[in-house]
Amino acid sequence: MGGFTFDLKACARPNIIALQPYRCARDDYKDDGSNTLLDANENSYGPSLSLDLSTNRDIGSSTLKLAGLNRYPDPHQIELKQLLCDLRQPADSPATLKPENLFVGVGSDEAIDGLIRCFCIPGVDKILVCPPTYGMYTVAAQVNDVEVVKVPLEVEGESPSFDIQPVKIQELLKDDPRIKLVYICSPGNPTGKLVDPARLKALLEYSWNGVVVLDEAYIDFAGHGKTLAHWVNSYPNLVVMQTLSKAFGMAGIRLGFAFAPSEIARLLNNLKAPYNVSSLTSALAIQAVSESGLEVMGSHRELIVRQRERLIQELPKIQRIGRFLGGYDANFLLVEMLDAPRNLGGRPDNKTAKMVYSQLAETKGIVVRYRGNELGCTGCLRITVGTEQETTKLLTKLEEVFHEIP
Ligand SMILES: Cc1ncc(COP(=O)(O)O)c(C=O)c1O
Repeated sequence: MGGFTFDLKACARPNIIALQPYRCARDDYKDDGSNTLLDANENSYGPSLSLDLSTNRDIGSSTLKLAGLNRYPDPHQIELKQLLCDLRQPADSPATLKPENLFVGVGSDEAIDGLIRCFCIPGVDKILVCPPTYGMYTVAAQVNDVEVVKVPLEVEGESPSFDIQPVKIQELLKDDPRIKLVYICSPGNPTGKLVDPARLKALLEYSWNGVVVLDEAYIDFAGHGKTLAHWVNSYPNLVVMQTLSKAFGMAGIRLGFAFAPSEIARLLNNLKAPYNVSSLTSALAIQAVSESGLEVMGSHRELIVRQRERLIQELPKIQRIGRFLGGYDANFLLVEMLDAPRNLGGRPDNKTAKMVYSQLAETKGIVVRYRGNELGCTGCLRITVGTEQETTKLLTKLEEVFHEIP
């Protein structure tokens, strides 16, 4: 449990605390088919689609109602939120996660931005990030004219742990009350490594008036039961973000969500655009997190984990591949490119990594991510784990590239 009293009213922006959220007539009178809806200036003749709208697209337990696309979507998404709670509630504990603990938005990128707008006064407040980490925290801060303070992950030593450093973070928080949010990525991007829950706990038990945001975009690749989403009911200043873009393979529908103590979730829901999640997105998201969708996700995840294992076995057979840095908890690997073969003392090298990156893209048709300039990632490429065929192609082409470059 959080050992201090978090004062949300003193932490969130006063204008957001005072905000009266947009209300629509359908908050009072439901769209259940019994009413003639002339309240929202929609088009009663229907969507301008030259498709047969009378047949709904059957997508299993939910239905894509094309004929209903002339209506605004549900601003509250309670059915989807309940399914997300069921998904993340640990089986062996009482159901504490409720729809009122959730914000759903246009990818977790909307939650990243919404949290900054909720807590940080532009030009005054700050966020803290732990590089190497996901770049959107800084982009969202800059868009909102919010300064970014950095406490790196642990990158010292021959074999860096890439874990968070709670004592160093606390030292900064103690000296700077303008820091309102700490963004932590677990599993990390680009490190692929889960944060140690004990270190996170140490940070959550530190008394300060700000919010810890845990980004669990890749959590389903880390193994069963690793999510800490349910901790939001134990710590008043914890928000846990997740997404359907990764393990669920639904990046195209743009659906992300954040679990939060209900008072924080209420502020995020108050400030969002009322119709941020489209009807098509919510129908597909409901299907993805229903029983049959979860089965598909589970089998895809298994296939990805198998290819991840294969890459861990096979990549080191190429002499100019160095170490894997970070961990194996996500659907990508962070791997060093060496300036000479391992047995000749090759060292991780950015020039080599850049060459491999561009040769792979320009002559082999494979795009990976160069991460050599990130803290502690010298010479590294971040490689997403693909299908079996994609992995075979990657391994073959990577070997070819090393024969072609100096
Ligand atoms: C760590 C992390 N968080 C969030 C996101 C964005 O997710 P979404 O597609 O839900 O906006 C990404 C995407 O790459 C990511 O790597």
